[in-house]
Amino acid sequence: MGEKWVLMKTAQTPTNIAVIKYWGKRDETLILPVNDSISVTLDPAHLCTTTTVAVSPAFQQDRMWLNGKEISLSGGRYQNCLREIRKRAREVEDKKKGIKIEKEDWEKLHLHIASYNNFPTAAGLASSAAGFACLVFALAKLMNVEEDESQLSAIARQGSGSACRSLFGGFVKWIMGKEEDGSDSLAVQLVDEKHWDDLFIIIAVVSSRQKETSSTSGMRESVETSLLLQHRAKEVVPKRTLQMEEAIENRDFASFAKLTCADSNQFHAVCLDTSPPIFYMNDTSHRIISHVEKWNRSEGSPQVAYTFDAGPNAVLIARDRKAAAQLLKRLLFSFPPNFDTDLDSYIIGDKTILKEAGVEGMKDVEALTPPPENGAAQKYPGDVNYFICTRPGKGPILLSSENLALLDPETGLPK
Ligand code: DP6
Repeated sequence: MGEKWVLMKTAQTPTNIAVIKYWGKRDETLILPVNDSISVTLDPAHLCTTTTVAVSPAFQQDRMWLNGKEISLSGGRYQNCLREIRKRAREVEDKKKGIKIEKEDWEKLHLHIASYNNFPTAAGLASSAAGFACLVFALAKLMNVEEDESQLSAIARQGSGSACRSLFGGFVKWIMGKEEDGSDSLAVQLVDEKHWDDLFIIIAVVSSRQKETSSTSGMRESVETSLLLQHRAKEVVPKRTLQMEEAIENRDFASFAKLTCADSNQFHAVCLDTSPPIFYMNDTSHRIISHVEKWNRSEGSPQVAYTFDAGPNAVLIARDRKAAAQLLKRLLFSFPPNFDTDLDSYIIGDKTILKEAGVEGMKDVEALTPPPENGAAQKYPGDVNYFICTRPGKGPILLSSENLALLDPETGLPK
Protein backbone atom coordinates (compact mmCIF):
# COMPACT_ATOMS: atom_id res chain seq x y z
CA MET A 1 0.00 0.00 0.00
CA GLY A 2 1.09 3.59 0.44
CA GLU A 3 -0.81 4.74 -2.65
CA LYS A 4 -3.33 7.54 -2.72
CA TRP A 5 -6.59 5.65 -3.24
CA VAL A 6 -9.79 6.28 -1.29
CA LEU A 7 -12.49 3.63 -0.97
CA MET A 8 -15.90 4.60 0.36
CA LYS A 9 -19.52 3.62 0.96
CA THR A 10 -22.63 5.70 1.68
CA ALA A 11 -25.70 4.49 3.54
CA GLN A 12 -29.04 5.88 4.65
CA THR A 13 -30.69 4.78 7.89
CA PRO A 14 -34.09 5.63 9.40
CA THR A 15 -35.03 6.85 12.87
CA ASN A 16 -37.41 4.89 15.05
CA ILE A 17 -39.96 5.69 17.74
CA ALA A 18 -40.61 3.26 20.58
CA VAL A 19 -44.17 2.15 21.32
CA ILE A 20 -42.89 0.06 24.24
CA LYS A 21 -40.14 2.18 25.77
CA TYR A 22 -36.56 1.34 26.65
CA TRP A 23 -35.81 3.15 29.92
CA GLY A 24 -33.06 1.86 32.21
CA LYS A 25 -29.82 -0.09 31.79
CA ARG A 26 -28.52 -3.09 33.68
CA ASP A 27 -25.05 -2.50 32.18
CA GLU A 28 -23.93 1.05 31.36
CA THR A 29 -20.90 0.23 29.19
CA LEU A 30 -22.36 -2.54 27.08
CA ILE A 31 -25.73 -0.71 27.04
CA LEU A 32 -27.92 -3.60 28.17
CA PRO A 33 -31.54 -2.68 28.99
CA VAL A 34 -33.75 -3.72 31.91
CA ASN A 35 -36.63 -4.63 29.59
CA ASP A 36 -37.51 -5.49 25.99
CA SER A 37 -38.77 -2.63 23.79
CA ILE A 38 -40.70 -2.34 20.51
CA SER A 39 -40.52 0.44 17.94
CA VAL A 40 -41.86 1.53 14.60
CA THR A 41 -39.36 2.68 11.99
CA LEU A 42 -40.14 6.06 10.40
CA ASP A 43 -40.01 6.69 6.66
CA PRO A 44 -36.41 7.72 5.81
CA ALA A 45 -37.78 10.05 3.11
CA HIS A 46 -38.71 12.41 5.96
CA LEU A 47 -36.40 11.48 8.82
CA CYS A 48 -33.06 9.77 8.26
CA THR A 49 -29.31 9.92 8.61
CA THR A 50 -26.96 9.64 5.64
CA THR A 51 -23.40 8.54 6.39
CA THR A 52 -20.37 8.18 4.13
CA VAL A 53 -17.43 6.16 5.45
CA ALA A 54 -14.07 6.14 3.69
CA VAL A 55 -10.76 4.36 4.10
CA SER A 56 -7.41 5.35 2.64
CA PRO A 57 -3.73 4.69 3.40
CA ALA A 58 -3.35 8.48 3.21
CA PHE A 59 -5.55 9.12 6.27
CA GLN A 60 -3.55 9.96 9.41
CA GLN A 61 -6.25 9.27 12.01
CA ASP A 62 -9.94 8.40 12.39
CA ARG A 63 -12.01 11.57 11.87
CA MET A 64 -15.72 12.37 11.82
CA TRP A 65 -17.90 15.27 10.65
CA LEU A 66 -21.52 15.60 11.81
CA ASN A 67 -23.74 17.95 9.78
CA GLY A 68 -20.58 19.52 8.36
CA LYS A 69 -18.78 20.12 11.66
CA GLU A 70 -15.84 18.01 12.84
CA ILE A 71 -16.58 16.17 16.09
CA SER A 72 -14.39 14.09 18.38
CA LEU A 73 -14.40 10.30 18.10
CA SER A 74 -12.65 9.85 21.44
CA GLY A 75 -15.87 9.03 23.35
CA GLY A 76 -16.25 5.48 24.63
CA ARG A 77 -19.40 4.82 22.60
CA TYR A 78 -17.75 5.64 19.26
CA GLN A 79 -14.64 3.72 20.25
CA ASN A 80 -16.66 0.62 21.19
CA CYS A 81 -18.54 0.65 17.87
CA LEU A 82 -15.35 1.17 15.84
CA ARG A 83 -13.48 -1.58 17.72
CA GLU A 84 -16.32 -4.11 17.36
CA ILE A 85 -16.83 -3.50 13.66
CA ARG A 86 -13.05 -3.55 12.91
CA LYS A 87 -12.85 -6.96 14.62
CA ARG A 88 -15.28 -8.32 12.02
CA ALA A 89 -13.70 -6.70 8.95
CA ARG A 90 -12.71 -9.04 6.12
CA GLU A 91 -10.68 -8.92 2.95
CA VAL A 92 -11.88 -6.35 0.41
CA GLU A 93 -10.92 -6.19 -3.22
CA ASP A 94 -11.86 -3.54 -5.79
CA LYS A 95 -10.39 -4.85 -9.04
CA LYS A 96 -11.48 -1.81 -11.07
CA LYS A 97 -9.57 0.54 -8.80
CA GLY A 98 -6.79 -1.98 -8.23
CA ILE A 99 -7.27 -1.94 -4.47
CA LYS A 100 -6.79 -4.89 -2.16
CA ILE A 101 -7.22 -4.64 1.61
CA GLU A 102 -6.27 -7.71 3.65
CA LYS A 103 -8.17 -8.57 6.81
CA GLU A 104 -5.20 -7.54 9.01
CA ASP A 105 -4.83 -4.17 7.24
CA TRP A 106 -8.05 -2.83 8.79
CA GLU A 107 -6.38 -2.52 12.22
CA LYS A 108 -3.84 -0.06 10.79
CA LEU A 109 -6.00 1.84 8.29
CA HIS A 110 -7.79 5.00 9.37
CA LEU A 111 -11.36 6.03 8.59
CA HIS A 112 -13.12 9.23 7.65
CA ILE A 113 -16.82 9.45 8.50
CA ALA A 114 -19.31 12.14 7.47
CA SER A 115 -22.88 12.07 8.70
CA TYR A 116 -25.88 14.25 7.94
CA ASN A 117 -29.44 14.32 9.34
CA ASN A 118 -32.25 15.38 6.98
CA PHE A 119 -34.11 16.87 9.94
CA PRO A 120 -33.11 19.58 12.45
CA THR A 121 -30.95 18.05 15.21
CA ALA A 122 -32.22 20.67 17.64
CA ALA A 123 -35.79 19.41 17.23
CA GLY A 124 -35.08 16.69 19.81
CA LEU A 125 -35.93 13.82 17.47
CA ALA A 126 -33.85 10.69 18.10
CA SER A 127 -30.85 11.58 15.95
CA SER A 128 -28.41 9.33 17.82
CA ALA A 129 -30.50 6.25 16.97
CA ALA A 130 -30.29 6.78 13.21
CA GLY A 131 -26.71 8.05 13.54
CA PHE A 132 -25.12 5.05 15.23
CA ALA A 133 -27.17 2.58 13.18
CA CYS A 134 -25.99 4.28 9.99
CA LEU A 135 -22.36 4.37 11.13
CA VAL A 136 -22.32 0.65 11.88
CA PHE A 137 -24.26 -0.31 8.75
CA ALA A 138 -22.04 1.76 6.42
CA LEU A 139 -18.82 0.46 8.01
CA ALA A 140 -20.09 -3.12 7.76
CA LYS A 141 -20.54 -2.62 4.00
CA LEU A 142 -17.16 -0.92 3.56
CA MET A 143 -15.39 -3.67 5.50
CA ASN A 144 -17.25 -6.54 3.85
CA VAL A 145 -18.54 -7.72 7.22
CA GLU A 146 -20.47 -10.99 7.11
CA GLU A 147 -22.75 -10.45 10.12
CA ASP A 148 -26.50 -9.98 9.53
CA GLU A 149 -28.60 -6.98 10.62
CA SER A 150 -29.40 -8.45 14.05
CA GLN A 151 -25.74 -9.02 14.78
CA LEU A 152 -24.95 -5.51 13.56
CA SER A 153 -27.72 -4.20 15.83
CA ALA A 154 -25.80 -5.54 18.83
CA ILE A 155 -22.88 -3.31 17.78
CA ALA A 156 -25.05 -0.24 17.11
CA ARG A 157 -26.59 -0.82 20.57
CA GLN A 158 -23.20 0.02 22.10
CA GLY A 159 -23.38 3.47 20.49
CA SER A 160 -26.90 4.23 21.73
CA GLY A 161 -29.44 1.71 22.94
CA SER A 162 -32.30 2.81 20.70
CA ALA A 163 -29.96 2.68 17.65
CA CYS A 164 -30.18 -1.12 17.53
CA ARG A 165 -33.83 -0.83 16.47
CA SER A 166 -32.94 1.33 13.43
CA LEU A 167 -31.35 -1.58 11.53
CA PHE A 168 -34.76 -2.77 10.34
CA GLY A 169 -37.88 -1.30 8.77
CA GLY A 170 -41.45 -1.85 9.95
CA PHE A 171 -41.94 -2.92 13.57
CA VAL A 172 -38.86 -3.96 15.51
CA LYS A 173 -38.25 -5.59 18.87
CA TRP A 174 -35.11 -5.13 20.93
CA ILE A 175 -34.74 -8.34 22.92
CA MET A 176 -33.07 -7.44 26.22
CA GLY A 177 -31.11 -10.71 26.40
CA LYS A 178 -29.71 -12.54 29.40
CA GLU A 179 -25.99 -12.96 28.71
CA GLU A 180 -23.52 -10.86 30.68
CA ASP A 181 -21.47 -10.07 27.57
CA GLY A 182 -24.57 -8.69 25.80
CA SER A 183 -24.27 -11.09 22.86
CA ASP A 184 -28.02 -11.89 22.95
CA SER A 185 -29.20 -8.29 23.41
CA LEU A 186 -30.18 -7.43 19.87
CA ALA A 187 -32.96 -6.28 17.55
CA VAL A 188 -35.20 -8.45 15.38
CA GLN A 189 -37.81 -7.42 12.85
CA LEU A 190 -41.38 -8.30 13.89
CA VAL A 191 -43.03 -7.33 10.57
CA ASP A 192 -41.85 -5.22 7.65
CA GLU A 193 -43.23 -1.82 6.69
CA LYS A 194 -45.78 -3.28 4.28
CA HIS A 195 -47.53 -5.37 6.92
CA TRP A 196 -49.48 -2.44 8.40
CA ASP A 197 -49.69 -0.03 5.52
CA ASP A 198 -52.67 2.00 6.75
CA LEU A 199 -50.89 3.73 9.58
CA PHE A 200 -50.03 7.41 9.23
CA ILE A 201 -47.80 9.35 11.60
CA ILE A 202 -47.87 13.03 12.56
CA ILE A 203 -45.09 14.43 14.74
CA ALA A 204 -45.76 17.69 16.55
CA VAL A 205 -42.41 19.39 17.16
CA VAL A 206 -43.23 21.31 20.31
CA SER A 207 -41.55 24.60 21.23
CA SER A 208 -39.53 24.37 24.40
CA ARG A 209 -37.12 26.66 26.18
CA GLN A 210 -36.04 24.11 28.70
CA LYS A 211 -32.74 22.22 28.51
CA GLU A 212 -33.74 18.62 28.83
CA THR A 213 -32.06 15.89 30.85
CA SER A 214 -30.36 13.50 28.40
CA SER A 215 -31.86 10.02 28.08
CA THR A 216 -28.58 8.52 29.29
CA SER A 217 -28.43 10.41 32.60
CA GLY A 218 -32.22 10.45 33.02
CA MET A 219 -32.51 6.67 32.87
CA ARG A 220 -29.49 6.25 35.14
CA GLU A 221 -31.23 8.35 37.80
CA SER A 222 -34.48 6.40 37.30
CA VAL A 223 -32.67 3.07 37.78
CA GLU A 224 -31.08 4.39 40.97
CA THR A 225 -34.19 5.90 42.54
CA SER A 226 -37.50 4.76 41.01
CA LEU A 227 -39.36 1.80 42.49
CA LEU A 228 -41.92 2.15 39.72
CA LEU A 229 -39.17 1.40 37.17
CA GLN A 230 -38.44 -1.92 38.89
CA HIS A 231 -42.12 -2.86 38.90
CA ARG A 232 -42.47 -1.79 35.26
CA ALA A 233 -39.45 -3.82 34.08
CA LYS A 234 -40.39 -6.93 36.07
CA GLU A 235 -44.18 -7.05 35.95
CA VAL A 236 -45.57 -4.71 33.30
CA VAL A 237 -43.37 -4.76 30.20
CA PRO A 238 -43.03 -8.56 29.79
CA LYS A 239 -46.83 -8.93 29.49
CA ARG A 240 -47.28 -5.72 27.54
CA THR A 241 -44.66 -6.73 24.97
CA LEU A 242 -46.54 -9.94 24.20
CA GLN A 243 -49.82 -8.05 23.87
CA MET A 244 -48.16 -5.48 21.62
CA GLU A 245 -46.70 -8.17 19.36
CA GLU A 246 -50.15 -9.67 19.02
CA ALA A 247 -51.78 -6.31 18.26
CA ILE A 248 -49.18 -5.62 15.55
CA GLU A 249 -49.50 -9.10 14.06
CA ASN A 250 -53.33 -8.73 13.86
CA ARG A 251 -53.29 -5.03 12.91
CA ASP A 252 -55.55 -4.51 15.90
CA PHE A 253 -55.48 -0.71 16.17
CA ALA A 254 -57.65 -0.47 19.29
CA SER A 255 -55.23 -2.65 21.31
CA PHE A 256 -52.20 -1.07 19.67
CA ALA A 257 -53.34 2.44 20.63
CA LYS A 258 -54.26 1.45 24.18
CA LEU A 259 -50.87 -0.19 24.78
CA THR A 260 -48.86 2.58 23.09
CA CYS A 261 -50.49 5.39 25.11
CA ALA A 262 -50.31 3.40 28.35
CA ASP A 263 -46.63 2.69 27.86
CA SER A 264 -45.74 6.28 27.04
CA ASN A 265 -47.66 7.45 30.10
CA GLN A 266 -45.95 4.89 32.32
CA PHE A 267 -42.52 5.89 31.06
CA HIS A 268 -43.28 9.52 31.98
CA ALA A 269 -44.67 8.35 35.32
CA VAL A 270 -41.32 6.64 35.96
CA CYS A 271 -39.62 9.95 35.18
CA LEU A 272 -41.84 11.64 37.74
CA ASP A 273 -41.06 8.83 40.21
CA THR A 274 -37.33 9.56 39.80
CA SER A 275 -35.57 11.62 42.46
CA PRO A 276 -35.23 14.46 41.65
CA PRO A 277 -38.22 14.13 39.27
CA ILE A 278 -37.65 14.54 35.53
CA PHE A 279 -40.21 16.44 33.42
CA TYR A 280 -40.01 15.77 29.71
CA MET A 281 -43.52 16.74 28.67
CA ASN A 282 -44.76 20.32 28.94
CA ASP A 283 -48.19 22.02 28.88
CA THR A 284 -48.43 21.67 25.11
CA SER A 285 -47.68 17.92 25.34
CA HIS A 286 -50.39 17.54 27.98
CA ARG A 287 -52.87 19.50 25.86
CA ILE A 288 -52.21 17.22 22.89
CA ILE A 289 -52.81 14.15 25.08
CA SER A 290 -56.14 15.55 26.35
CA HIS A 291 -57.16 16.43 22.83
CA VAL A 292 -56.47 12.91 21.50
CA GLU A 293 -58.11 11.24 24.51
CA LYS A 294 -61.25 13.37 24.09
CA TRP A 295 -61.49 12.71 20.37
CA ASN A 296 -60.89 8.96 20.74
CA ARG A 297 -63.63 8.80 23.36
CA SER A 298 -66.10 10.78 21.24
CA GLU A 299 -65.50 8.41 18.30
CA GLY A 300 -66.17 5.36 20.46
CA SER A 301 -62.95 3.67 19.28
CA PRO A 302 -59.33 4.86 19.12
CA GLN A 303 -58.41 6.85 16.01
CA VAL A 304 -54.97 7.97 17.15
CA ALA A 305 -52.25 6.75 19.53
CA TYR A 306 -49.75 9.14 21.12
CA THR A 307 -46.25 8.56 22.38
CA PHE A 308 -43.57 10.89 23.80
CA ASP A 309 -39.84 10.27 24.24
CA ALA A 310 -37.40 12.20 26.39
CA GLY A 311 -38.79 15.58 25.31
CA PRO A 312 -42.07 17.42 24.70
CA ASN A 313 -42.61 16.36 21.03
CA ALA A 314 -45.74 14.30 20.36
CA VAL A 315 -45.62 11.36 17.97
CA LEU A 316 -49.18 10.65 16.87
CA ILE A 317 -49.95 7.41 15.07
CA ALA A 318 -53.29 7.50 13.23
CA ARG A 319 -55.18 4.34 12.26
CA ASP A 320 -55.36 5.44 8.60
CA ARG A 321 -55.04 8.47 6.34
CA LYS A 322 -58.61 9.54 6.93
CA ALA A 323 -58.08 9.68 10.67
CA ALA A 324 -54.74 11.45 10.12
CA ALA A 325 -56.41 14.11 7.95
CA GLN A 326 -59.02 14.75 10.62
CA LEU A 327 -56.35 14.83 13.29
CA LEU A 328 -54.32 17.38 11.34
CA LYS A 329 -57.34 19.63 10.99
CA ARG A 330 -58.05 19.42 14.70
CA LEU A 331 -54.43 20.13 15.58
CA LEU A 332 -54.31 23.10 13.23
CA PHE A 333 -57.37 24.54 14.90
CA SER A 334 -55.88 24.33 18.41
CA PHE A 335 -52.24 24.90 17.48
CA PRO A 336 -52.21 27.33 14.55
CA PRO A 337 -48.88 28.65 13.26
CA ASN A 338 -47.58 32.03 14.38
CA PHE A 339 -48.75 34.90 12.15
CA ASP A 340 -45.39 34.96 10.31
CA THR A 341 -45.35 31.23 9.44
CA ASP A 342 -47.09 29.91 6.33
CA LEU A 343 -48.72 26.49 6.13
CA ASP A 344 -46.12 25.24 3.67
CA SER A 345 -43.31 25.50 6.20
CA TYR A 346 -45.58 24.62 9.15
CA ILE A 347 -46.42 21.17 7.78
CA ILE A 348 -43.51 19.26 6.31
CA GLY A 349 -42.88 15.71 5.12
CA ASP A 350 -45.69 13.96 3.27
CA LYS A 351 -47.79 17.01 2.34
CA THR A 352 -50.36 14.99 0.39
CA ILE A 353 -52.32 14.79 3.64
CA LEU A 354 -53.01 18.55 3.44
CA LYS A 355 -55.37 18.00 0.56
CA GLU A 356 -57.21 15.22 2.36
CA ALA A 357 -57.57 17.50 5.38
CA GLY A 358 -59.04 20.15 3.08
CA VAL A 359 -56.47 22.75 4.12
CA GLU A 360 -54.19 22.72 1.08
CA GLY A 361 -53.23 26.25 0.10
CA MET A 362 -55.30 27.65 2.98
CA LYS A 363 -54.18 31.19 3.77
CA ASP A 364 -56.12 31.61 6.96
CA VAL A 365 -56.25 28.68 9.40
CA GLU A 366 -58.38 30.93 11.59
CA ALA A 367 -61.25 30.00 9.30
CA LEU A 368 -61.19 26.38 10.51
CA THR A 369 -64.23 25.37 12.49
CA PRO A 370 -63.67 23.99 16.00
CA PRO A 371 -63.87 20.20 16.45
CA PRO A 372 -67.42 19.28 17.53
CA GLU A 373 -66.43 17.55 20.78
CA ASN A 374 -64.31 20.52 21.70
CA GLY A 375 -66.53 23.50 20.96
CA ALA A 376 -65.05 26.01 23.36
CA ALA A 377 -61.49 24.94 22.62
CA GLN A 378 -58.79 27.52 23.18
CA LYS A 379 -56.11 28.26 20.61
CA TYR A 380 -52.38 28.18 21.25
CA PRO A 381 -50.64 29.83 18.31
CA GLY A 382 -46.89 29.20 18.16
CA ASP A 383 -46.88 26.43 20.79
CA VAL A 384 -46.05 23.89 18.07
CA ASN A 385 -42.99 24.73 15.94
CA TYR A 386 -44.07 22.56 13.02
CA PHE A 387 -45.62 19.20 12.12
CA ILE A 388 -43.88 16.37 10.27
CA CYS A 389 -46.20 14.03 8.35
CA THR A 390 -44.81 10.57 7.73
CA ARG A 391 -45.43 6.81 7.72
CA PRO A 392 -43.82 3.59 8.89
CA GLY A 393 -40.76 3.05 6.69
CA LYS A 394 -37.99 0.78 5.50
CA GLY A 395 -34.65 -0.12 7.03
CA PRO A 396 -31.08 0.93 6.08
CA ILE A 397 -30.01 1.01 2.44
CA LEU A 398 -26.75 1.50 0.62
CA LEU A 399 -26.67 4.48 -1.77
CA SER A 400 -24.72 3.59 -4.87
CA SER A 401 -24.51 6.99 -6.58
CA GLU A 402 -21.25 8.77 -5.80
CA ASN A 403 -23.14 12.08 -6.14
CA LEU A 404 -24.88 11.34 -2.85
CA ALA A 405 -21.61 10.72 -0.96
CA LEU A 406 -20.73 13.26 1.72
CA LEU A 407 -16.97 12.83 1.25
CA ASP A 408 -14.92 13.76 -1.78
CA PRO A 409 -13.83 10.58 -3.62
CA GLU A 410 -10.36 12.05 -4.29
CA THR A 411 -9.46 13.58 -0.93
CA GLY A 412 -11.79 11.76 1.46
CA LEU A 413 -12.66 15.13 3.03
CA PRO A 414 -16.18 16.61 3.34
CA LYS A 415 -17.48 17.95 0.01
C1 DP6 B 1 -37.08 7.59 25.74
O1 DP6 B 1 -31.14 5.23 23.23
O2 DP6 B 1 -31.10 7.72 23.61
O3 DP6 B 1 -36.24 7.36 23.53
O4 DP6 B 1 -28.82 4.14 25.27
O5 DP6 B 1 -28.22 6.03 26.76
O6 DP6 B 1 -28.01 6.30 24.29
P1 DP6 B 1 -28.76 5.61 25.44
O7 DP6 B 1 -30.25 6.18 25.39
P2 DP6 B 1 -31.25 6.37 24.18
O8 DP6 B 1 -32.65 6.27 24.97
C2 DP6 B 1 -33.87 6.31 24.33
C3 DP6 B 1 -34.96 6.42 25.33
C4 DP6 B 1 -36.34 6.70 24.77
C5 DP6 B 1 -37.16 5.41 24.63
C6 DP6 B 1 -36.84 4.49 23.48
O9 DP6 B 1 -36.37 4.94 22.42
O10 DP6 B 1 -37.09 3.29 23.66
